[in-house]
This record gives sequence, C-alpha cells and structure tokens, in this order.
Amino acid sequence: MTPSQRFAITSNAMRAWQSDVYATSGRPVSFSMPPSCPGDGHRAVCIGPPSVAGVRHRIAEHGIHRSRDRSSTMRIGILGTGSMAATLGGAWARAGHQVLVGGRDRAAAAAAAGVVGAAGHGGLADAAAYGDVVLAAVPADAAPELTKHLAETLAGRTVIDCTNPVAPTDEGLMLTTGGMSSVARRMADAAPGAHVVKAFNLCHESIWTLPRPEFEDAALAVPYCADDAGAREQVAALITSMGCTPLPCGGLARAAYLEATAAFAIGAWWSGAQARFAFPTPGQAGV
Ligand SMILES: NC(=O)c1ccc[n+]([C@@H]2O[C@H](COP(=O)([O-])OP(=O)(O)OC[C@H]3O[C@@H](n4cnc5c(N)ncnc54)[C@H](OP(=O)(O)O)[C@@H]3O)[C@@H](O)[C@H]2O)c1
Repeated sequence: MTPSQRFAITSNAMRAWQSDVYATSGRPVSFSMPPSCPGDGHRAVCIGPPSVAGVRHRIAEHGIHRSRDRSSTMRIGILGTGSMAATLGGAWARAGHQVLVGGRDRAAAAAAAGVVGAAGHGGLADAAAYGDVVLAAVPADAAPELTKHLAETLAGRTVIDCTNPVAPTDEGLMLTTGGMSSVARRMADAAPGAHVVKAFNLCHESIWTLPRPEFEDAALAVPYCADDAGAREQVAALITSMGCTPLPCGGLARAAYLEATAAFAIGAWWSGAQARFAFPTPGQAGV
C-alpha cells in the first residue's frame, strides 16, 4: 500500500471534500479521518456518491437564519448539484441572496435546490444565465471545459472557481495542474469575457453549514484572487454577507497559490495534523 492509500475514509463529508481525488484516480482510495474531523472515528467505509441527505441534515440541525438586510441581494447561479453547491448555496440563501441551482441532471438540481432553499433550479445554462455571480462547483478537470461551453453566457459575469485540482500519488497529495498554472486561469482563458475569481476552495464544505463561521473569536477569513476590480468587490461583499472576512490575495496569477495551499492543508489534514498550527503570527511570539 502506498502512502496515499494508507488512510480510511469515514464519512460522506470527508468523501465529498475529496471528490476530485475520486474523479482523477478512478479507484477507491481510502484515507484516514484526522482526529478533529466530524465523523465516526477510524472505521473504513466503502466509497459512494456524496450525500445531499447529509448536507440537508446538517443545515436542518443548524437551522436556516435569513439575513434581514436585502439591500445587497445578489442573484447567484450554481453550476453543479453536489456538496459544495448545496452547502455554499445554502449559506448564500441564508444570507438573503437568490440562488438558482443548475445541473446536468434536472432531478439532482431540484433536490439540491430543495436543500439550499433556492429560488429555482434548472440546467447548467439556466444557472449561468441567472447569476450576477456564478459558482462553478464541479470537478476541477471539468471546470475549464464547462466554462468554455458556457463562455458566451458567462461574459460580463463574476464566475467563482472553488475547485481543488488534487490527486493522491505515491508522493502524497499532488496538484494535477503541476502548480505553475491554476484551474481558475484555465477557466479565464476558456471564457475571456467572464470575470473569474478563485475563492471558497480552502474549507471543507461542512463549514458552510454553520450559521456564522467563527473560530477562536474571529470570523472565518475567506481568501480570494481575481483580476477584475468589480468581481473582487462583488465577492468581498458576498463573503461579508455570510458573516466572514474577505481576504484579498491579489490577481488571478496567484490563484495557483490558493490551490497549492488547499493541497498542502488537505494533505496535512489527512495525515492527522492541523495545517493552521503551522501559521502562528509574530504577535504570538510577543513581537
Ligand atoms: N466538498 C468539499 O468539501 C470541497 C471543498 C473545497 C473545494 N471543493 C471543490 O469543489 C468542487 C465540487 O466539489 P463537490 O464536493 O461539490 O463535488 P460533488 O459533490 O462530487 O459534485 C460535483 C458536481 O459536479 C457535477 N459534474 C461532474 N462532472 C461534470 C461535468 N463534466 N459537467 C457538468 N457538471 C459536472 C456533478 O454532476 P453529476 O451528479 O451529474 O455527476 C455534481 O453535480 C470540486 O472541484 C472540489 O474539489 C470541494
């Protein structure tokens, strides 16, 4: 067994976080659940499709709290009907935004829209046409092609790329892009009129089911990279509306760093470590 096969998956949520791993590896790799993961310990389970039912349960558990401030309501189209579509879409609907979920499978889109509390559902083209902001919540290797297919419709819109192009190898978790470019860059090249923003790729989808993601008395920081000033502003407003703190990280040329950061953090998490403990501030050393 290779290092990357050494682990055992123990929950649907953990499986969903790694959806690209399954897509790219095409084999039932198993991973370990780190000690701090929500889940049921270190019991190995078989690998199946991500569970929208699980997302529904977590959202029901935490309740849906709608924002009263409707002044900055956005129309958001979501491409995809899986875990990220359901959880981010749910967070945005709770923040008062109008969400339409679009998938290649209409029944799955209807089910995800039900979980989200979305304004509607439809096909992928419907979601692209609906949103001032459009989220691509599909596997990383499918995102550029899908963006190309929808390029005309996406022109002038803000397109959020939350994908993580990662795959397990004998060296550990690696970027399928090689790290010199990013999925976000490829999407921007595929749809030159779209304003692509890399964001929301660092956290496990379960975080977006929290009514207010806050840890150690600080609102969750959401890093993002984009070239277009209007898109940057829009995504910052979206992040703020969720009770989080926007963390601008530069232009799209730096999106590869966010993808690499996810590969690093997920790899550490799988090995049972916590990436966040590697980043104390100078202030914590009394500087
Ligand atoms: N889950 C997480 O915690 C997490 C966290 C951060 C980032 N991400 C990233 O977010 C993205 C989505 O993850 P997820 O967990 O939501 O995945 P998921 O639950 O597996 O859902 C993927 C969705 O993409 C659709 N899809 C697959 N191939 C497609 C194609 N060629 N064209 C159009 N739609 C396609 C699927 O549709 P079908 O059902 O029809 O196949 C499904 O609706 C991934 O890139 C992942 O790396 C995930």
